[in-house]
Amino acid sequence: MKILMVCLGNICRSPLAEGILKSKITSQNSFVDSAGTAAYHIGNQPDERSIFVAKKYGIDISNQRARKFSPEDFDNFDLIFAMDDNNFHDILKLSRNNSDKQKVKLILNEIHSNKISFVPDPYYGGNEGFENVFQMLDEACEIIIKKYAL
Ligand code: 4NP
Repeated sequence: MKILMVCLGNICRSPLAEGILKSKITSQNSFVDSAGTAAYHIGNQPDERSIFVAKKYGIDISNQRARKFSPEDFDNFDLIFAMDDNNFHDILKLSRNNSDKQKVKLILNEIHSNKISFVPDPYYGGNEGFENVFQMLDEACEIIIKKYAL
């Protein structure tokens, strides 16, 4: 199963989601990547606050580099997890058919399937926002691992 994590800049939330999911994977056939819907940070390392909180929990995300989501990602991935509703709608705008659309999910719906909730953008806040994002994503990824047998 190939899984893509998507946020806006691909420097704060989705690099954490990628790192956390990778750290839990046991299946040899799984592949995890991340991307952003915006081009601002292409080629950049994750935000230092994301690198810091991941490191606190034993996960090294410092080798990741930001890239922009592309329609080809619909061909290369089985599941595409958006962090918030803006990301979700921006990805759907690039979908070409129903099969593309069905791949796109809000990541926190894995925790509460009947409730719409978003991973808040921590970019303009302090370190506690990154801790909060880490905890949300850790809970979601734990469920994703079991649900999709990754
Ligand atoms: P991310 O956070 O989408 O979680 O990577 C952001 C990173 C950069 C910006 C906004 C959000 N920005 O405006 O540059």
